Amino acid sequence: MCGIVGYIGAKNCVHILIDGLKKLEYRGYDSAGIGIINDNYCDVIKTKGKVSDLEKMLTGKNFTAGLGIGHTRWATHGEPNMVNAHPHLNKERNLFLVHNGIIENYSSLKKGLQKEGYNFLSETDTEVLVNLIDRYLKKKHNLGTAVRYALNEVEGTYGIAVIYKNEPDKIIVARKGSPLVLGVGVNENFIASDVNALISHTSQVVYLEDNEILEIYSDHFVAKNISDKEIIKEIHEVDIAIDEISKGGYAHFMLKEIMEQPESIYNSMRGRLLPEEGTSKLGGLQGFEDRIAHSDRILISACGTSWHAGLVGEYMLEQYAGIPVEVEYASEFRYRHPVINSNDTVIFISQSGETADTLASLREAKKKGALCLGICNVVGSSIARESDTGVYIHAGPEIGVASTKAFTSQLVVLALITMLISREKRLSVTDGQYLINEMKKLPRNVEKILKMNDTIEKIADKYVNAKNFLYLGRGYNFPVALEGALKLKEISYIHAEGYPAAEMKHGPIALIDENMPVVFIATKDSVYDKVMSNIEEVRARKGKIIAIANEADDQIDKIVDHAIKIPQTADMLTPILSVIPLQLLAYHIAVKKGLNVDQPRNLAKSVTVE
Ligand code: G6P
Repeated sequence: MCGIVGYIGAKNCVHILIDGLKKLEYRGYDSAGIGIINDNYCDVIKTKGKVSDLEKMLTGKNFTAGLGIGHTRWATHGEPNMVNAHPHLNKERNLFLVHNGIIENYSSLKKGLQKEGYNFLSETDTEVLVNLIDRYLKKKHNLGTAVRYALNEVEGTYGIAVIYKNEPDKIIVARKGSPLVLGVGVNENFIASDVNALISHTSQVVYLEDNEILEIYSDHFVAKNISDKEIIKEIHEVDIAIDEISKGGYAHFMLKEIMEQPESIYNSMRGRLLPEEGTSKLGGLQGFEDRIAHSDRILISACGTSWHAGLVGEYMLEQYAGIPVEVEYASEFRYRHPVINSNDTVIFISQSGETADTLASLREAKKKGALCLGICNVVGSSIARESDTGVYIHAGPEIGVASTKAFTSQLVVLALITMLISREKRLSVTDGQYLINEMKKLPRNVEKILKMNDTIEKIADKYVNAKNFLYLGRGYNFPVALEGALKLKEISYIHAEGYPAAEMKHGPIALIDENMPVVFIATKDSVYDKVMSNIEEVRARKGKIIAIANEADDQIDKIVDHAIKIPQTADMLTPILSVIPLQLLAYHIAVKKGLNVDQPRNLAKSVTVE
């Protein structure tokens, strides 16, 4: 989704902005631009397409400037083209603004400005904001005041950065609902919507909270709230190594992230297992264990892949903690007036920690007095900061739009939470010790699965031209079927559906013929025999069957077209293994179709608009 970068200091900002925008490419975007200011001139250069297209436009121009902002746009209002790209600017072309989020009342503001003689070039909501600020500048306010006055008229969400030729010593940034972070340097400062774009310059960062405005100079910054009251901001040290956000020799971030799973899974549980007691310890939940364990209900709110992790969490928690669990799409949860009581725990799962719907549902649950627990990957993200308590998954930066290693790490953390609160419930010491043993084996078992990469690639070869796919699983593997189908459709654009295997006969079975590939997740668990019957039903209708089965299962080879064998583990942990071949299958099909797997069309890594 849209990305923001900015620089103020003595260096030439052009390269810094371009480099920062490249680091944000993974979020998904359709146009890019920069606005720069120096003593003699100011200019905006923008284009539809990629940052590399923008770079080509800059070749040979030798722009130098110590002040600039940049943006990658993911279209909301108006198609992706040069005019709609950011930065937006006023008529005099000396005030530049980049914006993430949506100005909801833009149409009424626009009408008012048009009456005053303002003309609009783009179809965006953002252009309203730049003209609104311009209007206050023309009333002789300084830039900081003009921005504040303008924002007071705005309804909606924003992360903005503004620069002005007549006040070239500062960048003004403000946040409401869209993340922004300041990177503090020595006699230079950086801004970005995502720390990944900053860490090659500095590890000292300041996270903006909603309704905060920062005036950033090269050697200091002043933080205020929207009512102009000065506030003190804490400087945090971020701990991300630069090689964590490079491809490390892999063709794509997605492949690198799939391959990193032995390590990321290990990192998610490192130091958190208590083998003797057969349970876990989670520093972030300290002091909240009893309240969670004695909740009347646990609600889980999330989107996309994180929602699938939530479904697995529901099975885990109900099986071992015996607490009723409901899993909701955050987008539904926030608007349907859910019944939430103060004795409920609501778990928010979000890789980025910034997904607008998940964040809004967190705020809703907080208002109603529930205990809010965040499971996030990005340290310092909004959901992590606003939750009452939480657990980081420690999967490391995930750049590929299609989530892979974050999913398996979310499952590890859900398993740890389940063990933590189930000891006094349905989880005996011996059961807990068994689970811990199986968890410890996960990294090795994942390594084994990853060694089948070539075999999976050969299977992918046969299905590159398929138009549809069906994914079926039961019990713990039902959410895996949903996740396998999501991975395929996200990056290969093949229509794919995930279903509980038994539900197939209530509809999807009508689709099955010799052209329909059906992926079964058929591991040896409590519902294995039932899944085998479902496989027979598909076979009888000549569907092509790819099965994810256990190593010791010799029978399945006789009835399926392809069997991918994975090690057996505890039922609860099976999804952590069974999803991996599905990630690889989706990846190889998409690559063979010649598609951009890291930045699939229309998708964004972090969806910060509704
Ligand atoms: C987007 C991404 C998905 C992700 C979902 C939720 O749709 O493309 O990969 O699962 O957002 O993101 P979150 O950061 O909240 O887990």
